Amino acid sequence: MKITILKGDIIYHESPAKLTAIANGYVIAEKGIVKGVYSALPSEYADVSQNSDIDFLDYTGKLIIPGMTDLHVHAPQYTFRGIGMDQELLTWLDQYTFPEEAKYSDLSYAKRAYRYFTEDLRRGFTTRAVIFATLHKEATIELMDQLEDTGLITYAGKVNMDRNSNPELQEESPNASITATKEWISEIAGKYKRTAPILTPRFIPSCSNELMKQLGRLSKDTGLRIQSHLSENQSEIAWVRELVPQADCYANAYEIFDAIGSEKLPAVMAHCVYSDKREMEILKNHGTFIAHCPSSNMNLTSGIAPVRKFLDAGIPVGLGTDVAAGSSMNMLQTILLTIQASKMYYRLVDQSVKPLTFEEAFYLATEGGGSYFGKVGSFKEGYEFDALVLDDSTMYSMRPFTLRERMERACYNDADVRILAKYVRGTQVYQK
Ligand code: GUN
Ligand code: FE
Repeated sequence: MKITILKGDIIYHESPAKLTAIANGYVIAEKGIVKGVYSALPSEYADVSQNSDIDFLDYTGKLIIPGMTDLHVHAPQYTFRGIGMDQELLTWLDQYTFPEEAKYSDLSYAKRAYRYFTEDLRRGFTTRAVIFATLHKEATIELMDQLEDTGLITYAGKVNMDRNSNPELQEESPNASITATKEWISEIAGKYKRTAPILTPRFIPSCSNELMKQLGRLSKDTGLRIQSHLSENQSEIAWVRELVPQADCYANAYEIFDAIGSEKLPAVMAHCVYSDKREMEILKNHGTFIAHCPSSNMNLTSGIAPVRKFLDAGIPVGLGTDVAAGSSMNMLQTILLTIQASKMYYRLVDQSVKPLTFEEAFYLATEGGGSYFGKVGSFKEGYEFDALVLDDSTMYSMRPFTLRERMERACYNDADVRILAKYVRGTQVYQK
């Protein structure tokens, strides 16, 4: 039986509001599942040096934290992140995003560009991710092949879009889109251990009513989950109102096509910046996960999502980088932006909605998004063992800080922290 023991300064959540910190402790996993966190090595593991079943890694003085989930990111947009940021959503899509994604019809282009994405994802703070590809079947399979090789655990989706783009990036009809999607699913069936397909209608403006209906049906027939975008930008929302006048809100447009998932087959909806009570009720009823993407929401001047209201309503929330509308894949930076955005929401929008605490934002990045994958994102017993080992020694200090203070500083100074090692379901996938 394979046992992994990491020694170091361990921080994880017992509950959303409370971080547990064990200095100079041990986190132990068996066959990729956490056994527990201990301040002294239990006697049954005492023979670490003689037992070849035990991998013992001494990271004394380093931070050991659960892995992080990027609940919403666009792989083909990685190589143009950080440009076009003076646009809002709809012109940004037309001028930058659609022309770039169209290039993925060329498999050799996709191979090269996806290499940059997958390699940086492997080396970053992310251990799990839910990813948009493009509408191209071959390029999406190439992305999934590369993702599988990273050792990370991911969902990746071939995008569906059959309207309101341009001929270079648009499927001919609902049937053409569904046929390509079914071919994609059957070509990758049984191929991967860590990489799963997810149905990916881009958003309502990109998908005809007929396509949305058929995708909803396909989700039911295949047991595949759905990811999409929801209530990100005011012009987008007004457009959805015109496109689907029978819906009483944007979420209801997905709902009437039966394309918003269920408790058993939860969807990820990115953004929800403008989701009101009615929309939250729909999301709650369907067990939908909200991917909160603060970098994106600020870059595209979209707005600030009321995350605390989602949490109070009992809606599952995780964090997304939403590259390239978000300009970085760094999850520590995403934690910081989540906190900062919530502070501005409180100050400028609604003073009855308190800012998120550091503990809450850290939870969203780890267990909040991780729970989309099951028992993931904590070191509680029975959780899958995803971990990051961080070196914060170059963030100089003139007094000893608590582990909680060190972790908070790491998020506020993400560039000064180095990843020494990364584990996913018990396997080391990266080492500095
Ligand atoms: N809505 C539809 N497509 C996209 C996209 O690629 N990025 C973002 N941020 N929003 C979208
Ligand atoms: Fe997005």
